[in-house]
Amino acid sequence: MFYKIAQKFMFQMDPELAHNFAIGSLKSTGNSPLNCFYAQNIKPAPVTIMGLTFPNPVGLAAGMDKEGECIDAFHAMGFGHIEVGTVTPRPQPGNDKPRCFRLKPAKAIINRMGFNNKGVDNLVANLKAVKSNAMVGVNIGKNKDTPVEQGKDDYLICMDKVYPYAAYIAVNISSPNTPGLRSLQYGDLLDDLLGSLKQKQKELAEKHGKYVPIALKIAPDLSSEEIEKIADALIRSEFDAAIATNTTLTRDGVSGLLNANEAGGLSGKPLNSLSTVVIKQLADCLKGQIPIIGVGGINCAEDALDKLDAGAEMVQIYSGFIYQGPKLIKDIVEAYRIK
Ligand SMILES: Cc1cc2nc3c(=O)[nH]c(=O)nc-3n(C[C@H](O)[C@H](O)[C@H](O)COP(=O)(O)O)c2cc1C
Repeated sequence: MFYKIAQKFMFQMDPELAHNFAIGSLKSTGNSPLNCFYAQNIKPAPVTIMGLTFPNPVGLAAGMDKEGECIDAFHAMGFGHIEVGTVTPRPQPGNDKPRCFRLKPAKAIINRMGFNNKGVDNLVANLKAVKSNAMVGVNIGKNKDTPVEQGKDDYLICMDKVYPYAAYIAVNISSPNTPGLRSLQYGDLLDDLLGSLKQKQKELAEKHGKYVPIALKIAPDLSSEEIEKIADALIRSEFDAAIATNTTLTRDGVSGLLNANEAGGLSGKPLNSLSTVVIKQLADCLKGQIPIIGVGGINCAEDALDKLDAGAEMVQIYSGFIYQGPKLIKDIVEAYRIK
């Protein structure tokens, strides 16, 4: 009820302004009695993957809390995990505004944010200030002005800095809004990246006395052969998980709608079936050797269960959360409990 009122107000605003307003409000209320406006009691539905036990299978997808400012607030809403970032080594402004668009009739969003963020040191400071026991994944990326061939170094810098504070680390090579980034999903560049990150993980696990799993976040715009090759690379490098998927460059299901021709990645309802197909193909290749976190277009509990049926073991939501509010978390957990 409260969310519907808040949404009515925020949907009058420019999407990025509404986002900043929401983040500001959540940041200032996350640890105060005012969190009663959105806190939810979610029954436990534990899931163990990557050697970690999550209180329930519903996480917040990356990009909502880029700086890790509202972790306690999202935890109070009942998310089983919160993925913060994408964070890059150095702060960067992202693309020119406007860069985020609602496609309301399709319950979709197009964004070309371009990894706007205040840099990894700022994120680490925020992670240190978290009061709750939220499970926090940190999604890492490369700066726009780092050449793709040196992109690996940016991931290693971020990994080194966030490692002590993360439950898991997500490696984002699938945003469509950083030129060249998606080329890291193929061939030698991918093998080299995964191998280097696993080597770094080994060193950091020894240094910090804790093993932090690493997950690879992939795009939905991949052929079956490409998915197969990524799965092989994940198995070869003994990666800990895959997150499927990021936003799509396709425009199926939105043609003719206002903002449908904006450049960027499409998320929300029109992405749902494409993302589920990718999860299914990936699961067929991985054969249970590496777990999958399913994300893309989940707008109701049934969509989430479809992702789990396709082979995912947990899910994440972003656009569906914007359109449905915190109740979507509860709906999915309840459906999962009686499944
Ligand atoms: C405004 C916006 C910003 C996003 N930023 C990021 C990001 O920084 N890193 C990332 O890995 N994914 C990012 N995403 C992608 C989401 O994490 C998710 O993979 C995608 O939106 C599909 O899920 P959905 O259909 O539930 O939104 C962003 C999505 C949106 C809508």
